[in-house]
Amino acid sequence: MLDIYTLGDDVLRTPTEEVTVFDSALRMLVDAMFDTLVEADGVGLAGPQVGVSKRIFVVDLRKGEGSKYVFINPVITETSVEEGVYEEGCLSIPGLYHDVVRPLRVKVQAQDADGKYFNVDADGLLARVIQHENDHLYGKLYIDHLDEKEKEKLEKLHFKRQKKSGKRKQN
Ligand code: NI
Repeated sequence: MLDIYTLGDDVLRTPTEEVTVFDSALRMLVDAMFDTLVEADGVGLAGPQVGVSKRIFVVDLRKGEGSKYVFINPVITETSVEEGVYEEGCLSIPGLYHDVVRPLRVKVQAQDADGKYFNVDADGLLARVIQHENDHLYGKLYIDHLDEKEKEKLEKLHFKRQKKSGKRKQN
């Protein structure tokens, strides 16, 4: 289990660096990220959320082996004009949720844990999770998609809960 960093930790607001070395340490990180994701009962987890400022995220839609993905150095090459609304949460802003508008479909090119390139045409939940996680790689969170008032409301709630639970800033 890796520690999950939360809103207020600088690493979540820092743009990430390209992954250049595809070695056993990277594969161990990927395994640990999957374990952490399942343990935390989420569907997506990005590097910065576990304190790793690298262009990597994992997705597990909990529908078996075919629904697990590792995206390294991803690039969203196409987004649909059509948008949809979906209620998002984030393991780094625990317990809070809000509707977010995003494109319904995306095309992504990325590398797997061995450095091999692959393409995904995603729709539905996968398209949603990819966009949410990809944002993390740029230091962006789902609350940044909301209007200023809604964003502030969620931030305040988060920090209030954090204070109550006695969590200290990690960096
Ligand atoms: Ni998130």
